[in-house]
This record gives sequence, C-alpha cells and structure tokens, in this order.
Amino acid sequence: MTNHLKQGKDIDKAVALLQAGQLVGIPTETVYGLAANALDRRAVTGIFSAKNRPSFDPLIIHVASLEDALKYVKAIPSELRILADRFMPGPLTLLLEKKDIVPDLVTSGLSRVAIRIPAHPLVQQLLAQLDFPLAAPSANPFGYISPTKAEHVLAQLADKVAYVLDGGACQVGLESTIVGIEEGQLTVFRKGGLAIEEIEALVGTVVVKAHSSSNPAAPGMLKSHYAPRKPFKLLSSTDFQAYTNDKRIGFLAFQTPKSNSDASIVLSANGDLAQAAQNLFASLRQLDEMDIDEIVAELLPEQGLGRAINDRLRRAAV
Ligand code: TXA
Ligand code: MG
Repeated sequence: MTNHLKQGKDIDKAVALLQAGQLVGIPTETVYGLAANALDRRAVTGIFSAKNRPSFDPLIIHVASLEDALKYVKAIPSELRILADRFMPGPLTLLLEKKDIVPDLVTSGLSRVAIRIPAHPLVQQLLAQLDFPLAAPSANPFGYISPTKAEHVLAQLADKVAYVLDGGACQVGLESTIVGIEEGQLTVFRKGGLAIEEIEALVGTVVVKAHSSSNPAAPGMLKSHYAPRKPFKLLSSTDFQAYTNDKRIGFLAFQTPKSNSDASIVLSANGDLAQAAQNLFASLRQLDEMDIDEIVAELLPEQGLGRAINDRLRRAAV
C-alpha cells in the first residue's frame, strides 16, 4: 500500500483496525502516538517491536475521561486529582496505582500505570467508540525525534502501522508532562507540554526529577533520546551567535536567525515559547534531512515551555 492510502481521517477504519489488534497512528495535541489495545498483550507486544523499544520502558495508556481512568487505576490521590480536574484533557500524564486488568507488559512490571486523557478531538472521537484504552508511545523509532505530523509517522513506521489517523500538525508539539507522587511529594518525572509553572501556580512547589540514564525504570528514561541522526551540538545563545567552522551547518535558532548561514531555522520569530514548542520536532527533522554536516541548536530561556524544549535539546545532544 502506498503511504497516502495509509493516512486519513477515517475514524471507523481506525476503530476496526484497533479492535482487530492492529497498530494505528493517532494524533494527539502533544505528539502522534503509536496506538494499540492496551488490554491485548499481543497488540502491546507489537508496539514494542515496531518501535524497537526495550520492554523495560513502560507505555502510557490513553482514556477518554477520568471516569474511564478509574476502570484501570485503584484511586486518584487528592493532590493529583486537583491537577487532573484542571489540566485533563491535556498535555498531562499521571502515574497511578494500576488495577490488575492492566497487563504488566504495559507498565514494564511497575505497580503504577501512566494515564493520559488526550484533548485532540479526533482521538476523543476514537476513544468514545472503543471499549478499551489505548496504549500509545510516541510514534517514532526508539531514540529518534517524536512525530508531530501524520507524515512523520509514515516516514519511519509505514510498514509497521495499519493506518495513521491524520489530525494535522500537533498543537503543543512536546510530549506530555508526567507527574506522580514520590515519597509523599508531587514529582515531575518528565518535563513536557504542560509548563511546570502552571502546575506550581495551582499546587505550589513540586519536585522536578533529573533524568537518569542509570535507572531506566524511572519515567523520562534514558538520557539519549529525541536525537537527529546528524551530529548535533547545543550552545548557549552567545556561543550560538558566534559559532562558525568550515563545515556545512544547519542552525536551529530560537528567535534570531543565524546570520551568514546557509541553513537557519527560527523556532519563533517573536520569541513565543508555545510556538517554539510547536515547531521544535518538525524543525529538527527538517534539518536532519538537509544536505549539511552538522546541526547546531541554540538553548532557549529556561522558563515555561523553554524548560521542556531545552530538556529535549540536551538529550538530543548526548
Ligand atoms: O504526550 C505523550 O505523552 C505521548 C502521546 C502519544 O501521548 N506519549 C509519549 O509516550 O510520549 P512515550 O512512550 O514516548 O513516553 C512515555 C514515558 C516514558 O519515558 C516512560 O518511561 C514513562 O512515560 N512511563 C510510562 N509508564 C510509566 C510508569 N508506569 N512509571 C513510570 N514511567 C512511566
Ligand atoms: Mg517517546
């Protein structure tokens, strides 16, 4: 089948394929997911193998509502409930004690399951027609840049997915922020599309866990991630503007284009961090496909979504 036939807005088709245990690319407001029936072990195994993902890296399950979430988790602690009431549906994932109905395969044997309620209208319509939750990691090969358009999914996983539901370009552009409780404290395990400042405005200071490459069972996981294939360098704004060498360089700038360069992409000309987040992964892909030797990116201000963007850039630079 050619790629364009595998991509469309046919929800009934997506429903039928998912019911048959197949893999379907789904749009969410954060990034595209590679979805399958979370309660079907064989289908979930298919996700891990399609992505080449190690089985110790657990999956997020997607449900339509908090009411649905309660079918799969034992309880929602009150601190997390406050966040859920405000930010779900949206770019927030909660870690909650799972019920037995959720296969251990989904959580890599952990007692908690990651739950998210995506806001994208197409996936909401899809979930409304399913009587099971969707396990869905980002729809990229393990370690590569996350997809923010249907075309990105097919560019790399065309032979692994039965269909990609096309919901256009992702509005947020960064994976969800993952929050759970650790040692009695609200803890952010992965910076993402919901800014930590927004969480703290509601519930006060939270713990932000650094990424660890030595403890893969921890969310946020392996440090090297989100990486383009080309050599990738990350520089402070000052070093970025001064950087030069005799290679062909593709520059990824925050606000101000790199002067006298062959290839320079600007994430947001007016310095809007939400717009920069929206453009980040597609821009990295674009640079990765250009005829250049090296990608050089500029660090963003360490605030709001800039923190999550910098996190992705730092991990790409490892
Ligand atoms: O925005 C998103 O979250 C996207 C869309 C598709 O929903 N999904 C996504 O999934 O980014 P993935 O698999 O690429 O990243 C999920 C992260 C992983 O780093 C994993 O370690 C962590 O969530 N995670 C999942 N389940 C967990 C659990 N039970 N305990 C701790 N961490 C968990
Ligand atoms: Mg991912």
